[in-house]
Amino acid sequence: MAVIEVDMKRKLVEMALDARDLAYAPYSHHRVGAALLGKNGKIYTGCNVENAAFTPSNCAERTAVFKAVSEGEREFQAIAIVGGIGDRSELSICPPCGVCRQVLREFCPLDFPILLAKDPDHIESYTLEELLPLSFGPEFLPGEK
Ligand code: THU
Repeated sequence: MAVIEVDMKRKLVEMALDARDLAYAPYSHHRVGAALLGKNGKIYTGCNVENAAFTPSNCAERTAVFKAVSEGEREFQAIAIVGGIGDRSELSICPPCGVCRQVLREFCPLDFPILLAKDPDHIESYTLEELLPLSFGPEFLPGEK
């Protein structure tokens, strides 16, 4: 696993918090932000984007992954995720949903660091394997990634 320096972890959380400010969540009011560090050093942010028909809504993490992949990056070093109802001072840890864990599984190794934070001073780090044990991934299928 690539070691992510403390300053980079803090930067990712700050960028995730800024991305959260852009969340479109008029139905749940649960605003989520993500910041995904590409192997190329670029940071791709995302927020949740809800929809009146509910099903088309997209999570912050998937917004970030799909932005990155659509811009040519498919390898990642870490992701920071923040979310919750209310303002920044009211946040607690916001774990990614199962669908987003599976989307990360497509592009990230099992030791990929997932940073869950309330703020830059309170960051918990988990691996993808810890959050998605016994997972199904691209290596089970014959296609080229
Ligand atoms: N949400 C995310 O953006 N990421 C997650 O991993 C969990 C849930 C969003 C989806 C929806 O807009 C709102 O939070 C409430 O579920």
